Amino acid sequence: MTDRPALLIRNAQILLPDGTFLQGDVWIDGDRIHRVAPEIDATDVGEIAREIDATGLTLLPGAIDPQVHFREPGLEYKEDLRTASHACAKGGVTSFLEMPNTKPLTTTQATLQDKLDRAASKCVVNYGFFIGATAEGLPDLLTANPVCGIKIFMGSMHGDLLVDEEPVLDRLFGMGQDPDRPGHGRLIAVHAENQARIRQRREQFAGITDPAIHSQIQDNQAALEATQLALKLSRKHRRRLHILHMSTGDEAILMRQEKPAWVTCEVTPQHLLLDVGAYETIGTFAQMNPPLRSPEDCAILWQALLDGVIDFIATDHAPHTLEEKAQPYPNSPSGMPGVQTSLPLMLTQAAQGRCTVAQVMQWMSSNVARGFGIPNKGAIAPGLDADLVLVDLKTYRPVLREEMLSKCGWSPFEGWNLTGWPVYTIVGGQVAYEQGQINEAARGRALTFEPAT
Ligand code: DOR
Repeated sequence: MTDRPALLIRNAQILLPDGTFLQGDVWIDGDRIHRVAPEIDATDVGEIAREIDATGLTLLPGAIDPQVHFREPGLEYKEDLRTASHACAKGGVTSFLEMPNTKPLTTTQATLQDKLDRAASKCVVNYGFFIGATAEGLPDLLTANPVCGIKIFMGSMHGDLLVDEEPVLDRLFGMGQDPDRPGHGRLIAVHAENQARIRQRREQFAGITDPAIHSQIQDNQAALEATQLALKLSRKHRRRLHILHMSTGDEAILMRQEKPAWVTCEVTPQHLLLDVGAYETIGTFAQMNPPLRSPEDCAILWQALLDGVIDFIATDHAPHTLEEKAQPYPNSPSGMPGVQTSLPLMLTQAAQGRCTVAQVMQWMSSNVARGFGIPNKGAIAPGLDADLVLVDLKTYRPVLREEMLSKCGWSPFEGWNLTGWPVYTIVGGQVAYEQGQINEAARGRALTFEPAT
């Protein structure tokens, strides 16, 4: 027990680790959950800093988003760690794992440390960072700490972070597999698209400005081929592998048949809930990598998620400004923001009967904590970190551009009527978001990661 005054959440519908709900109270002591019970007697608690009356609200573990691009340092005109973390807090995301395609690239301990320092000074939620692989395979790939994994762009990237040749990938997948050396078991996360195929199809379809062509240029085959290669190399080297933003039914079928126990994969809400029809309504704002697919692909991805073939939901939050996105294809950049809407989008699916709230929280919290070896997170139980979100599952409200806290100031889901919006978000026992207001004084912490054994 700490000597800090307690935070008490009263009368919430609490999601327990076994997927059932308890109507009751949660006592938070410092940064940890101390007790979960039908009723906590205030006289047991001692000094109480604050009580939150959660009548009518549902208490969930905070979401952990395993793939975001927050643009700092170097591209702060699109987003920065402060604005992105505010969007997280308002969306119920209490921890994020961020990608290395910033300026400079995050490829060394020094550039990683710079990001950690920046995050410590301004993030209201917890943070972790990937280190980026380059063809050189810098030594820091295995020794830099703390990192959640090594990111490899097999496609859809230019410059030093593109690693698209099989012999180089083979070498990277084989690095650090000695149990007595640093970096043993370090996770590799791949953006799986076959760059050679994309290059060739870009030439084939050159001159077409309808953004729908994007899904044909970077087609299902390009994604499938790269995922097949990553799986092959992971098996060869027994390398812990994570497939980022899986987008096609073809890959989901492959995973259902062949996924080894040490491989995980994720899908984004965009690839579940939007399809190629979105180009007609929002044009280049629907452009992302890997691209949106057919309704049949969405259906197969959904089934794979429900069946446990797909492990996590990630947003691939990739903000670009309205001006950038409004340029005609192919000058428009790929990517959409997502951290503020992912939890309500998925909870709305649960409210409409497509899945359960407990499944959503497995995909968005407990499975992510387990898959990345993040200790003490992903569930509501005594002793675990007090990263929590109180959501309102009774009210529907539309996604409004003016309520988006991401610096880019738009969402591909504008106008969608959603339930499950956060009312309070708690990060390490601090109220980071409350009824429309960010607590600018709250601070997240650097996440730690236990290597796969
Ligand atoms: O659409 C995308 N945009 N996909 C990625 O993986 C990268 C991202 C970006 O950084 O803009």
